[in-house]
Amino acid sequence: MKITFYGHNTLLIEVNHINVLIDPFISGNPLSKDKVDINTIKTDYILLTHAHQDHILDAEAIAKKNDATIVSNYEIAMYYQNLGIEVHPMNHGGNCSFNFGKVKYVNAIHTSSFPDGTYGGQPGGFVIEGEHKTIYIAGDTALTMDMKLIPMNTKLDLAILPIGDNFTMGIDDAIIASDFIACDKVLGVHYDTFGYIEIDHDEAKRKFFEKDKDLMLLGIGESIEL
Ligand code: NI
Ligand code: MN
Repeated sequence: MKITFYGHNTLLIEVNHINVLIDPFISGNPLSKDKVDINTIKTDYILLTHAHQDHILDAEAIAKKNDATIVSNYEIAMYYQNLGIEVHPMNHGGNCSFNFGKVKYVNAIHTSSFPDGTYGGQPGGFVIEGEHKTIYIAGDTALTMDMKLIPMNTKLDLAILPIGDNFTMGIDDAIIASDFIACDKVLGVHYDTFGYIEIDHDEAKRKFFEKDKDLMLLGIGESIEL
């Protein structure tokens, strides 16, 4: 499983020779818009955690260009189906096996409305299992006790957690989240994009290190292999 970071919560996951794009927000991201061309992204699926602009901005364009299937909660799936896009609706607690691996839509505490005010259902995260690796993409969320449910039936190899504070968990809560989900290997996302969520990278890494945990922060376009 290869994971490439395109800024904010945008990730391209290559698993079982299938490309899965998460929360595409590139053309409006000041940190990535000049580094990543959305027209060159190749993907088979687009997974959306919730309907906020900073998670869905480029979903329609990329889905249409690639004939990609959008996977999200029911309300978000119907929104894109009405735009003529292939969708697969899910909802909280549900698993589904796709040709790239197994996906579970899990709880998040946040909000979810489209930029035009359309109801975007309840926000979520994804647990994705493929090539004998399992990752958790929390999406935008507060620290929540529901995270303790995740390790009850899965063993995570990597957790992708928001760390920017203000709109989501910050560093200190992300460290507690990593205990709740029983995964000490964390890729931080949802930081630095706007003024509200700028973080001190060294301090963030040090705080994880002091708890015997590993916080990775990738540059735009950088990848990790699991
Ligand atoms: Ni959000
Ligand atoms: Mn967000």
